[in-house]
Amino acid sequence: MADDLNDVTEDDDEVSESSEALIAVHWRDEGYYPPPASFVAQANASDPAIREQFTEDRFPDDFTAYADLLTWFKRWDTVLDTSEAPFWKWFVGGELNASYNCVDRHLADKANKAALIWVAEPESEAHQAITYRELYVRVNEFAAVLKSLGLKAGDRITFHMPMVPELPVAMLAAARLGIIHSQVFAGFSGTAAGHRIADSGSTVLVTVDGYYRSGELLDHKVKADEAVEAAAKEGQQVDKVLVFRRYPGQYSAATPMVEGRDVFVDDLLAEHKGELVEPARLQATDPLFLMYTSGTTGRPKGCQHSIGGYLSYVAGTSKYYQDIHPDDTYWCMADIGWITGHSYIVYGPLALGTTSVLYEGTPNYPDAGRPWRIAVQLGVNIFHTSPTAIRMLRKVGPDEPAKYDYHFKHMTTVGEPIEPEVWRWYYESVGKGEAVIVDTWWQTETGGFLGSTLPGIDPAKPGSCGPAALGILPVILDEDGNEVPAGSGKAGNIVIRNPWPGVFQTIWGQRERFVSTYYAKYNKDPKSTDWRDWPYFAGDGATEAADGYFRILGRVDDVINVAGHRLGTKELESVALTVNEVAEAAAVPVIDDVRGRVVEMYVSLKPGFAPSAEIEAKVRDAIVKDIGKIARPKNIWIVPDMPKTRSGKIMRRVIAATSNFTDTGDITTLANPEVVEKIRQQVQSAKHAKGEVPRELSETELSEIKSFGSE
Ligand code: WTA
Repeated sequence: MADDLNDVTEDDDEVSESSEALIAVHWRDEGYYPPPASFVAQANASDPAIREQFTEDRFPDDFTAYADLLTWFKRWDTVLDTSEAPFWKWFVGGELNASYNCVDRHLADKANKAALIWVAEPESEAHQAITYRELYVRVNEFAAVLKSLGLKAGDRITFHMPMVPELPVAMLAAARLGIIHSQVFAGFSGTAAGHRIADSGSTVLVTVDGYYRSGELLDHKVKADEAVEAAAKEGQQVDKVLVFRRYPGQYSAATPMVEGRDVFVDDLLAEHKGELVEPARLQATDPLFLMYTSGTTGRPKGCQHSIGGYLSYVAGTSKYYQDIHPDDTYWCMADIGWITGHSYIVYGPLALGTTSVLYEGTPNYPDAGRPWRIAVQLGVNIFHTSPTAIRMLRKVGPDEPAKYDYHFKHMTTVGEPIEPEVWRWYYESVGKGEAVIVDTWWQTETGGFLGSTLPGIDPAKPGSCGPAALGILPVILDEDGNEVPAGSGKAGNIVIRNPWPGVFQTIWGQRERFVSTYYAKYNKDPKSTDWRDWPYFAGDGATEAADGYFRILGRVDDVINVAGHRLGTKELESVALTVNEVAEAAAVPVIDDVRGRVVEMYVSLKPGFAPSAEIEAKVRDAIVKDIGKIARPKNIWIVPDMPKTRSGKIMRRVIAATSNFTDTGDITTLANPEVVEKIRQQVQSAKHAKGEVPRELSETELSEIKSFGSE
């Protein structure tokens, strides 16, 4: 492998087009970890010949193998309809119901098997096992409630719910009727939920009164009031707020219920006890849900996923990549508020009829042994989480796993690049050297995995997600659309040449933005209905090694991946600009040993205002209020001026370098180069004083900082 580090041109004031993607990378092969024989013997995929069923010449029919894992009311007529490219339509003419597939069809042979096991954060509370039969009853009753409110197929409903079993129940109830659900991460603020309610046009919000995080029973209902108010400001009225209770018969929030608008769900359920609701016969191409994610503009995009394609894809990838068998106890320690939870806590595992564990709280509460105690208590044998959780557990309890007698056969890491040394701790300490690891690369938009090893076939290589998933045809392209060859050591944009069933259908209400963001870049003929003309632009930089394994380097756009969650710089900056004193704002990533990246915010003030702790607090509060705690900047620097190009563009890479103590690069082309040194003095001396000097950065991290904000 060539150690080709010099492909970045130095004069990147506006950063020359071709150098952007050619982020130089320093690749060191990390060695292979083959699956243990015991794993291979039981794996859903153990014969390399499976790849021959998913070759390009078999596309798109190859994906019917995934669709065949589901029960269809009516089989499809056309596997893939490309007539409205790039709005792909999968399994056209097919009719099915996601709720039926995740619940009803398991009653025949798994009625009394646990579908969900919910673990409350307080260890004094017993866990709750919900059998498929109980899930059936609860989903039906809640569907009856939704129906009684007049909701019907095609309507949207917003959930702002934490990790409680009522959330999957509500999702499956909506899916039963064809109501499009939009779950907003509970950690997001009420205002953020309100923006998403307005964008989706929901008239009903479902929430809970309270839930536990880190030992505290949080008042969650207060966020519903904020959400309704924020939605109203954007012209969207919410008629009903349905409030589940964390503890039956009591109210866990301090915020009062609003007469006429807020209703306790248990009161409504009592009116619909034992009612059954026929699962609607829905088109495969009908939408199942929206999942909002951040992009390059200030406004989050509602990624719309289909019923047939999405459910097929998550069922297929859960089977082959998560290696889920019906008798496994599978725990994905992530939040259903993100795509990971939708695909790999709820829809994929339940479609396969397995037992899926849900945990309410923080991983290290009350101590870093908690996940491993849960694993022992429930007999978890498949474990799935993010690099941030792994880094945190490693930091606070490196020796904890060894104290507990659990045995994982399989583990997953998802959502961020994982450093090889963290991977090795996961493998040796958490997996005890017995478990395979899959490092799964994918996105909210993609519905399911795009890059991963097949765990019973391919050896894992720390730091790489592995080859393309079955049926996925990726290629790395430079800015001009030339292929960057495997093994060249050069980075480029990873694109997927073909559609796949899990890909999102559109951005809710923004068809043009869908095409321009994901497909326009490498499309040469906007009228073409041939899928070969529409490579999917993922927005990630990557390299491909000679062995066909991909290494994902991170976003090539202005998105900061904090603890695996995407935050748009424009989104953060536009919130900062709502503070009256602020004239300009710029958000940059800072490398963090636990959360991967954290946000730092630079602001300059309008004339006549002097920097103060008060203004800093205003900016911080505005961000927490509008987005949520997850976006809270680590530092806010009020600077005399922003480094700018002559055309007035803020040079984010220069301030990113300042925050990360890396070389600011060439600044001679700036309109105000003298400000760079002033800012450096101010920021770095303050950081020294706080003990915030980072470790030495890896080559990949350095190149990320160097090219940040170049688009
Ligand atoms: C990043 C999460 C490295 C990537 C499922 C992508 C990863 C973004 C990996 C999507 C991985 C995801 N290795 N980076 N295994 N998985 N990413 O939409 O930059 O929350 O574009 O979906 O996370 O984040 P999202």
